[in-house]
Amino acid sequence: MAPRFDLVIVNGTVVTASDISTCCVGIKDGKIKALAYAFDQDELEGVEIIDAEGAYVMPGGVDAHVHLCQDLKTGPHGLGGECADNFDTGSRSAVAGGTTTIITFATQTRAEEDRSLIKVVEAYNARAESTGSYVDYGFHIIIVRNDADILENELPVLIKDWGISSCKLFLTYETQRLTDSQLLDVMFAARKHSITTMIHAENGDMIGWLTDKLEAKGMVAPYYHALSRPPIAEGEATNRAISLATLIQNPILFVHVGSALGAANVRRAQTMGLPVYAETCPQYFNLTWDDLKRFHSPTCFENSKMICSPPPPPDTNDHEDLFVSLQNGTFTIYSSDHCPFRYDHPHGKPSGVLEHTPSMEGENHDCHGEELQDLLLRKNGAFRHVPNGIPGVETRLSLLYTGALQTGRITPQKFVELTSTNPAKLYGLYPKKGALMNLQPGSDADIVIWHPEKSFKPFNLTNSMLHHNVDYTPYEGKEFTNWPRYTILRGKVMWANGELKGKLRDGQYVKRGPNQLKKDSPRMDKDPRRVATWLYE
Ligand SMILES: *[C@@H]1O[C@H](CO)[C@@H](O)[C@H](O)[C@H]1NC(C)=O
Ligand SMILES: *[C@@H]1O[C@H](CO)[C@@H](O)[C@H](O)[C@H]1NC(C)=O
Ligand SMILES: *[C@@H]1O[C@H](CO)[C@@H](O)[C@H](O)[C@H]1NC(C)=O
Repeated sequence: MAPRFDLVIVNGTVVTASDISTCCVGIKDGKIKALAYAFDQDELEGVEIIDAEGAYVMPGGVDAHVHLCQDLKTGPHGLGGECADNFDTGSRSAVAGGTTTIITFATQTRAEEDRSLIKVVEAYNARAESTGSYVDYGFHIIIVRNDADILENELPVLIKDWGISSCKLFLTYETQRLTDSQLLDVMFAARKHSITTMIHAENGDMIGWLTDKLEAKGMVAPYYHALSRPPIAEGEATNRAISLATLIQNPILFVHVGSALGAANVRRAQTMGLPVYAETCPQYFNLTWDDLKRFHSPTCFENSKMICSPPPPPDTNDHEDLFVSLQNGTFTIYSSDHCPFRYDHPHGKPSGVLEHTPSMEGENHDCHGEELQDLLLRKNGAFRHVPNGIPGVETRLSLLYTGALQTGRITPQKFVELTSTNPAKLYGLYPKKGALMNLQPGSDADIVIWHPEKSFKPFNLTNSMLHHNVDYTPYEGKEFTNWPRYTILRGKVMWANGELKGKLRDGQYVKRGPNQLKKDSPRMDKDPRRVATWLYE
């Protein structure tokens, strides 16, 4: 008789979003088959056994905000910069950090050939398939135009054929942002087709205006990027997007909320019963303005390593406010916003600066090291042109473990909820992902096992320990008190004791369904004199 299990985890402290218990996990055919206090000895005969030694055993991380292989072309249609990670290196970094599912972004641009969302997704999928992935993956779609025919005809196809149930819209970046009326068009179509609307909420005009003023004063070094995006830029944009969403009763999720002001707006909307969700990221807790300023000088380009939008909050009170919002449910999910650009590479952080320098036309930009630094120095590395984003898919879970779980500031269940279960529910993957359910429909055996705290020696991170294709980490030198010991994808050990075990083609594309978090609240306003409920009649 075939053994009941393929793999068994014993001595684990098994954690889900609701429960914690000492038990064993039995895995068969890539699924969770049984949870039990113990298994009979004869059931374990010939079965691979992992001894968790008392450590936490959790559903694998679901990182719902990862940029890989994304064409961020400079020029009229792009944000500039070449994404340093493709599905190979990006998923390798994910799995080494305990994440088993990522959701990445297929991106429409304003170029005429990118009008069709389906074509955009097909082209993006080809990139993923060309390398394969170490983790399971799905796509969000970024929409930068409001073409009625595309929205009407293609959104249903994206759901049906691709299982793409979420779109992302921008309120900033010249090449991506939508006006309020365009935003209403897309949100309305998204609601009609049960697509979750994610919003990057920063006021583009405010940022553009401040950038001009900073430049007029010669404040162009990378550090000033943060001054061009004060918390009120997010405060205004979240407030506005909530108002627009209220008008047409459309559920929204704010991505990477980094200000107490943004969180307060989200909280107020939630208290009014509006279906408003919010994501936050490690950089809003574990990077400070001291980090942003670390290398600051009028000519130093090094701070471009820290440029991300929105920037981390100005002071520790803001960090604290954000943390309370993380504890008390204002934040629904905790993602990385991994957006990788190399530092010492002409197509990385320096690319926009080089591209936008007329006096350098015709110069060869394929330089590195000192030569590159020299070029940037001549241009002061104007932050306006520096691609925005930092890497973090591998450090996401360990930063939260170190800073919040181990210190007792959040419970293990809350940790699982924020990093795995809620993203799975919000993006229609539950309980295949984000759970350890052994009854139908059952969960994939995606699991992260930590080191036992007693025996783990804290270490200080250096970039060479990571598995991405980026030449730096913003968390260089930070102390970590735990790290995933095993990462298991559908029953297969992919990462064990510091070594990659799985194969690049082990990851699979996952189709997703609609948002599974509660959508409507009895407190939502249904009066057509105040909100446009009649739109849907
Ligand atoms: C990192 O963030 C956590 C909250 O997630 C916080 O408790 C901790 O103090 C931060 N640590 C560092 C080194 O920034
Ligand atoms: C969550 O925390 C914030 C910040 O302290 C607080 O203002 C808010 O009332 C809390 N919300 C809930 C639902 O407890
Ligand atoms: C990490 O670095 C800090 C600051 O340099 C140092 O105090 C600490 O001892 C280091 N921790 C480890 C585990 O090496």
